[in-house]
Amino acid sequence: MPNRERWATRIGLILAMAGNAVGLGNFLRFPTQAAQNGGGVFMIPYMISLVLIAIPLMWVEWAIGRYGGVRGHGTTPAIFRLLWQHPVAKYIGVLGLFVPFVVSCYYVYIESWTLGYAVMSLFGMLPKVSAASASPEVYLAPFKEFLNSYTGMGEGDFYHPSLKAYIFLLITMGLNVYVLIKGISGGIERLAKVAMPLLFFFAIVLMIRVFTLETSHGSAVAGLNFLWEPKWSELANPKVWLAAAGQVFFTLSLGFGAIITYASYLKRNDDITLSALTASSLNELAEVVLGGSIAIPAAAAFFGVAAAQTIAASGAFNLAFVSLPAIFANIPFGQFFGFLWFILLFFAGLTSSVAITQPVIAFLEDEFKMERRLAVLSTMFVLFFVAHVAVFLAGALDEMDFWAGTFFVVVFALCEVLIFFWAFNPSQAWAEINRGGYIKLPRLFFYIMRYVTPAFLFLITVWWVVTILPGYLMESRWTSWVTREILVAIMAVFCFLVYFQDKRRRRK
Ligand code: ALA
Repeated sequence: MPNRERWATRIGLILAMAGNAVGLGNFLRFPTQAAQNGGGVFMIPYMISLVLIAIPLMWVEWAIGRYGGVRGHGTTPAIFRLLWQHPVAKYIGVLGLFVPFVVSCYYVYIESWTLGYAVMSLFGMLPKVSAASASPEVYLAPFKEFLNSYTGMGEGDFYHPSLKAYIFLLITMGLNVYVLIKGISGGIERLAKVAMPLLFFFAIVLMIRVFTLETSHGSAVAGLNFLWEPKWSELANPKVWLAAAGQVFFTLSLGFGAIITYASYLKRNDDITLSALTASSLNELAEVVLGGSIAIPAAAAFFGVAAAQTIAASGAFNLAFVSLPAIFANIPFGQFFGFLWFILLFFAGLTSSVAITQPVIAFLEDEFKMERRLAVLSTMFVLFFVAHVAVFLAGALDEMDFWAGTFFVVVFALCEVLIFFWAFNPSQAWAEINRGGYIKLPRLFFYIMRYVTPAFLFLITVWWVVTILPGYLMESRWTSWVTREILVAIMAVFCFLVYFQDKRRRRK
């Protein structure tokens, strides 16, 4: 059996998997998506997607990863080739490198803002305002300006980030390199064992603080009502279904290749069924309960429900980097609570960014027999280089998120389930998922994974291509096209590496 790294403990594995999933998506993306897509009614397609696509896919990804790992491979170009002896399989597997790599290029940048804001909050470097009964717009204006000058995101074709933003990006990159170089059990697992319990603890403290906020505008409970009040008319809107499915993917890191790579460090008979369910449940707890109970309820308590709605609709960054610092600027020990909020986001981001960077590192280690340190340094060097596109080119971050973080995750997930449950062998796939399982999955899930999940994913992909893509492409500016060309180039480089490696393997 090939000698690969392994997770040291079961709890470490589960926390690392939960850390992989719990990220900025839970605390920034989820409340915004829920608020923008019909409030409580969003949870209906969300829950349906969770049961019919996400949980089954979670088991599929864990099983694919463990199957590859015991054969010496932690990434999909090689694993798909093992599962399906077709020349195209390894190139489909390239998506398992492309998606996490591209997402990590912008994800690390946003993560660096959270670290920057944590430090600035602690040292009182964020704007200070008095609560004098100004309207929310007037009140939030200095915080908006501060964010704009920090990120340099303005109207032009290029952004001009502040020196601080660039320095925090360097520090964040350094911390990622530090954790990754230490390896799976020595770096990622140890980080998760510390960061995940702290993250939950910070989130609970913040939630309690938010629910004890009482102002003349209202209370946090009003925010919960607004977030969860179902607007039934939205249920027939395909956009809401696409948004819900997209959120489920993003939050659980499904279709990213990252779960597969983490699962490749399992042993042959390690449990999959219960562990995958536990890690997913931790993520859902962090998302639905904690993620839904901080940013929006706080904004509702402080500015009133209508203003909270406007802020949520204006995007995830405004909620986290504008409205919350503005609220914390006006409560006792606000600097400390602001620090808690941003360090919580940073821990969430860090445990996810090491996960989405790991596939390319594993690819270099497994397929090119590169030593870990060199694999980490070369991956992070290229990542840092490409991250500059997101940092300086207007709209590039959204463009990368659109293709890698939204579209290709779904396409890749569809490929995974088709290859595992159709091209491979369905009964063997089912046995692979259940082997060593602490719980036995009801047979119903076999049919869901074989028929319902791929059908649902196919429908989403087609729906998306028909309803969203044309409008999106029409609105493109030149910077979007440049970003797309860069993405094509990244894809081409990965395809070449896979081709080259395969040729070398055959010659041996
Ligand atoms: N699953 C990660 C997140 O939620 C990527 O941010």
